[in-house]
Amino acid sequence: VAKPTLQIIIASTRPGRVGPSVAAWFHDRAVKAGDFEVELIDLAEVNLPMFDEPKHPRFGEYVHQHTKDWSATIARADAYVFVIPEYNYGYNAAIKNAIDYLNREWQYKPLGFVT
Ligand SMILES: Cc1cc2nc3c(=O)[nH]c(=O)nc-3n(C[C@H](O)[C@H](O)[C@H](O)COP(=O)(O)O)c2cc1C
Repeated sequence: VAKPTLQIIIASTRPGRVGPSVAAWFHDRAVKAGDFEVELIDLAEVNLPMFDEPKHPRFGEYVHQHTKDWSATIARADAYVFVIPEYNYGYNAAIKNAIDYLNREWQYKPLGFVT
């Protein structure tokens, strides 16, 4: 049986951020635990623009290649760990933007992701 896939998502994007160090610490432990295929995702590398899709993401009718790529990335995982900074008493803008791009991709997919 294939292991479920866990993605560790680095949410901060600023120069000098500590997010990658925290994520690397967790990544090491998640790999050693052995229960998941573990992937590191860095929102600074994904580099999504501010949300620019015309339709609600629940339709999955994306017009931009960056959205299609982001959809494929998130759809292949079963579980997510977000490494999020606290900015002004809340989560940072990049993670909210990245979440809002997609809908069903984030949800429980016991039968796999169906487009
Ligand atoms: C714009 C900004 C706002 C911040 N606001 C808070 C805050 O409200 N509460 C807090 O405890 N720390 C706050 N901090 C400190 C960050 O949590 C800390 O710098 C942390 O390292 C940020 O993660 P990052 O290095 O991955 O960006 C803020 C930092 C920045 C840059």
